[in-house]
Amino acid sequence: MSHAFPCYLIEKSEAGVSASLTERTIDDLPPGDTLIQVGYSSLNYKDALAVQGHPGVVSKFPHVPGIDAAGVVESCSSGIFQPGDEVIVTGYGLGDEDWGGYAGYIRVPAEWVVSLPVGLSLFESMIYGTAGFTAARGVDHLRHNGVMPDCGEIVVTGATGGVGSLAVTILAHLGYDVVAVTGKTESHDFLRELGAKRIISREEVNDTSNSLLLKGKWAGAVDTVGGNILATIIRSAKQHATVTCCGLVAGAEFAATVYPFILRGVRLVGIDSDQCPMLKRRELWSHMASDWRPPQLESLARTVTLDGLPAEVQRILKGGITGRVVVQPVRD
Ligand SMILES: NC(=O)c1ccc[n+]([C@@H]2O[C@H](COP(=O)([O-])OP(=O)(O)OC[C@H]3O[C@@H](n4cnc5c(N)ncnc54)[C@H](OP(=O)(O)O)[C@@H]3O)[C@@H](O)[C@H]2O)c1
Repeated sequence: MSHAFPCYLIEKSEAGVSASLTERTIDDLPPGDTLIQVGYSSLNYKDALAVQGHPGVVSKFPHVPGIDAAGVVESCSSGIFQPGDEVIVTGYGLGDEDWGGYAGYIRVPAEWVVSLPVGLSLFESMIYGTAGFTAARGVDHLRHNGVMPDCGEIVVTGATGGVGSLAVTILAHLGYDVVAVTGKTESHDFLRELGAKRIISREEVNDTSNSLLLKGKWAGAVDTVGGNILATIIRSAKQHATVTCCGLVAGAEFAATVYPFILRGVRLVGIDSDQCPMLKRRELWSHMASDWRPPQLESLARTVTLDGLPAEVQRILKGGITGRVVVQPVRD
């Protein structure tokens, strides 16, 4: 079983980091008890960093990126999964410490693997991918903290991006009034179709005054960008609001005082989808396949093969992606 399969390989030499579409065999894969034939992967911001050999993401070369994979189990020596089982792997070390989903096969520990929930196809699971899972984790934190649709408006930043677009559409589907923040004026119709009630510019959530508190507007937030936008949202969160934070495309640092937390009881919740416990993982995937599944899911996705990746990587690094890019490592 050492036949060659396509893979997108990142290598480092004295000349720098390079990416190429090449072939590898099963014997080249990292150890693990579960061998999975990959049907689909997806493109996340972190994957684009991995393609560039970013030291915060890739620790050793050569490397195969792809933090998401959905496919069919070929073998599982621990017996936890059976050949033919349809499964999803997102996060843990996939495409990070270990080779990821931009290849015909992955080999991973069974502990990383989630059975494809009833109601979702392999392709649909990768429309969600880590982006959708992170959005769902954010929604789950809002609900866990008592932020329900009657509490008021929920602001979502980076709204046309992967995490943002899925957060908008899941929240709208659950009956929340969603205010989408975007830098793309041409994407307002797209956001309305996802269910956003209002669309505002990044400038409207990027306050540069020295005010310790701003007018309370948001019952909750799914912030995917960080930086001063996150700082502004925290200061304009309403009494007992929950603000979730997962990303850093606008900046890794933000300035804050204790006032929103001690005067308004604002909660700031960090999201780490990578190491989300397996029980919660299964629960969220089950929601994503059923009651949280937005009707517009399919409309969010475009599919590329491995040779189409470089252009999409450049687009996501420039914040230019709208919705989700599903990656198909092996053509039909
Ligand atoms: N913590 C976790 O578990 C976790 C999981 C997944 C992703 N993330 C992080 O979440 C972030 C979003 O990931 P993604 O895959 O959704 O990326 P993405 O598809 O590129 O979306 C990011 C969106 O942010 C907006 N944006 C880009 N540059 C910006 C800037 N300078 N200032 C303000 N907004 C900007 C753009 O949306 P608009 O044009 O609509 O404004 C862009 O589409 C990344 O930082 C990623 O690393 C974290």
